[in-house]
Amino acid sequence: MSEMTFTPSVSGLTLEEKASLTSGADFWTTKAVPSAGIPSIMMTDGPHGLRKQAGDTDHLGLASSIPATCFPPAVGLGSSFDPELARRVGVALGIESAAQNVAVLLGPGINIKRSPLCGRNFEYFSEDPLVSGVMGAALVRGIQSQAVGASLKHFAANNQETDRLRVSSDVAPRPLREIYLRAFQRVVQDAQPWTVMCAYNRINGVYASEDPWLLTTVLRDEWGFEGLVVSDWGAVNDRVAGVRAGLDLEMPSSGGRTDAQLVEAVRTGALDEAALDAVAQRVVDLVGKAHSTSDEIEPDLDAHHALAREAAGRSIVLLRNEEGILPLSAETSRIAVIGEFAEKPRFQGAGSSLINPTRVDTALGAIRAAATGRVDHARGFSTSGEMDGDALREEAVRVAGEAEVAVVFLGLPAEEESEGFDRTHLELPDAQLRLIDEVVAANARTVVVLSNGGVVTLPFRDRVPAILEGWLLGQAGGSATADVLFGKVNPSGRLTETIPLRLVDAPSYGNFPGEFGHVHYGEGILVGYRWFDARDLAVAYPFGHGLSYTDFVYGSAAVEVIDDGLLVRVPVTNSGSRAGREVVQAYVSVPDSQVERAPRALVGFASVEIAAGSTVEVVLEIRRSDLAYWDIRVDDWVVEPGEYRIEVGASSRDIRAAATVQLVGEPNRAPLSRESSLAEVMAVPAAAAELHRVLAESERSLLRSADAEMVKLIGSFPLSRLSVLDPALNEKGIERIVASST
Ligand code: BGC
Repeated sequence: MSEMTFTPSVSGLTLEEKASLTSGADFWTTKAVPSAGIPSIMMTDGPHGLRKQAGDTDHLGLASSIPATCFPPAVGLGSSFDPELARRVGVALGIESAAQNVAVLLGPGINIKRSPLCGRNFEYFSEDPLVSGVMGAALVRGIQSQAVGASLKHFAANNQETDRLRVSSDVAPRPLREIYLRAFQRVVQDAQPWTVMCAYNRINGVYASEDPWLLTTVLRDEWGFEGLVVSDWGAVNDRVAGVRAGLDLEMPSSGGRTDAQLVEAVRTGALDEAALDAVAQRVVDLVGKAHSTSDEIEPDLDAHHALAREAAGRSIVLLRNEEGILPLSAETSRIAVIGEFAEKPRFQGAGSSLINPTRVDTALGAIRAAATGRVDHARGFSTSGEMDGDALREEAVRVAGEAEVAVVFLGLPAEEESEGFDRTHLELPDAQLRLIDEVVAANARTVVVLSNGGVVTLPFRDRVPAILEGWLLGQAGGSATADVLFGKVNPSGRLTETIPLRLVDAPSYGNFPGEFGHVHYGEGILVGYRWFDARDLAVAYPFGHGLSYTDFVYGSAAVEVIDDGLLVRVPVTNSGSRAGREVVQAYVSVPDSQVERAPRALVGFASVEIAAGSTVEVVLEIRRSDLAYWDIRVDDWVVEPGEYRIEVGASSRDIRAAATVQLVGEPNRAPLSRESSLAEVMAVPAAAAELHRVLAESERSLLRSADAEMVKLIGSFPLSRLSVLDPALNEKGIERIVASST
C-alpha cells in the first residue's frame, strides 16, 4: 500500500457495504470495498514488538510470526520512568510496523496492576495511573510519529485474566475515575491514539464492548477522543448494541454473521442507520490515515537492537546493594554464573504479545564477553523439571564456592505467568529458593538477578548482598544485565509497583479474582502503594524504589502555584563519583480533604541524568487536574480549596523534601436540597446566612439558641426533618434556604 485515493465518505455506500466495513475480513485485516476504492488495512500485536503472522493466525501467541525487535515489555520499560525513552521505543515500533504494511499496532496496554497476581501484569506499566498514563502517551506519540496508529488497550477495568471474557469489574465511581480510567484519559487527551481497544470484561454489569457511557459519553464526549474503537479479539457480545454504544470495528472477522445482524437491525428500524454510518465512517477515516510505504522503509535492526539494549539497561531495578558489591570489576578472577535463565533467558511473556525476536542476547554470553577472568556456569535448577534437581543444585553450590563472586539468575518459569490466566501465589519455585540459600551459604558474595513479569516475594532478600530486579527485558536483556553488573550502565530503574512481603497484604486480597462473574473492587481508591501507606504496612520494597551506583542528595523543595497546576523545584546533587540518573518523584496529600485521600499520590516525576559532583535543579510540573478528586455529587472532577502538601523523594517511602501550598480551589458545586444536612447548609455561607434569617423570624426557635455542641449533635439532620426542633423550618423556610445557595 502506498498513497491511497478513495472516497473518504460512506454516503454513497450500500447498507451492506457499510455494515461490512465494521468487522474484520479475517484475523488481522479490515474489509475492502472495491467499488468505492476503499482498501483493507492490517492491525496486529503489539505492544513491545511487532507480531505479524505470515501463516496461521491466532491471538494467543501460538502460531509463529515474522522476526521483529522484542523491546522490554511494559513491566520493564515502565521502570525507566522515562517517557522520552518510551517515545524512542515507540518510534522504532512504528518503523518496523510501517515497513511491514501494518497500519495499527495493538498497544500499549495501560491497565492498572490491581493485583500482583494478574497474569498479564508484564504487559502493563504500573499500579499507578500517572506512570501508566505518561508512559502510555509517550509510546503512542512515538508509534504514531511514523504514521502508524496505536491501539490503547484494554478499555477499561481489565485487571485480571480469570474469567476475562465475562467477569464484571464492580467498581465505584471514584476509583473508576481516579485510578482505572485516569491513565486512559491522559493518553487520549495528550496523544490522541488512532484507536482504542475495548476490553473483554463487563464494568458494573455492562460489557465494555456495548457500554454507551464508556465508549461515547466518557471517551468521546468528555475526553474528546477522535479515533476508532476496536473490539478486543472476540469481545463482541451483541453487535447491534455495540454499534449503538459507539463500538466501531469488530475484530476479528465474524464471517459476515454480525454484518447481517446490522443490516437486519437497520431494516427493521431497531438500529438507526445514522449510527451505522457513524461507525462505518470512522473505519473509513482510519483507513484514510493509514498509508504505510513499505517499499521505502528498511528498519535498521542493529540500531533497534541497540535501543532494546539501552531500554533494557534502563529497566533494571537495583533493589539492594550492600557494601557496594556491585558493580563487579571486569577483572574479577572467577565468576560463577548460576541459573538456567543466564543461558536461556526469559525476556517476554506469553500470549498475544509474544514476539519472534530478531536475535537474543544471553547474560552468560555477555558476561563472558565482558569479563577478563574465568567464568563458570552451572544450571542450578531446571524449570522443566526434566533433570535431576539435587545434582544441578549441588554442582551450582560447588561452582559458587570456588568463585570470587556468584551471580545467580532466578525467576518465574514461563508457564507460571501468561495472558489468559492469573497466578495463584507470589513465590519463586522451591528448587530456586533452596538453591539460593545453599549458594549464599557457600559464597557470601552472591548477587541475585531476577526474571519475572509479575512481582515475587523475596524471602532471601536480607541474606543476599545484592539483588537486581530484571523483570522481562526483551531480546537484549542479557547484554543489558551484563552492562549493569559491570557498571557500564549505572542502574536507574525504579519500581512501578510495590513488592509486598506477603500476598495477604495486597490491597485486592480477598477481592480477587472474584466469584460467579463478579469481582468487587473493595479496596476503592487505595490501590498499590496508596493502600500500603494508608495501612502503614511493611513492604519488601516500596513503589518508586531503586538504587544507583552513586548517591543523590536533595536540597529543599519550593512549590509555586501556577495557572494550571503547581511547579515544584528541588536541587538534586550527585554526590558520588560516577554519573547517574535519579528518578525524582513528587507525591501529594491533602490533609483536610473532605473525601478519603491516599496518604501519598504520585503527581509528578522525572528521570534526570546528573554528572558526578553536579547539582541539577529539577523542575516538576504538576497538573491541576492531577490534584483533583472525582466528586460523585456533581459527577465531575473537583480541586477542593485548602492546603496541599507536596513531598519530593526517591521512593514513596524515601521522602527527602516537602513543602505546602494553599489552593483557592473550586467552590462547592453540589446543590443544596431539602435533604441537605444542617452541617452541609452551614458550610455554604449564603445558605447559613439565610438559615439565620429564617430562624430570626421565628417566634419560638430552639435552634436559634443552639450552641456549638448542639449544632454538632444535630448537624446530620436533613433540613426536611428539622421542623421537629424548630417550626420555622417549614416548607417555605426550607425553600428560602435552598434557593439562597444557588
Ligand atoms: C488480547 C489483545 C490482543 C488481541 C489480538 C486478545 O486476546 O487481549 O491484547 O491485541 O488478542 O491478538
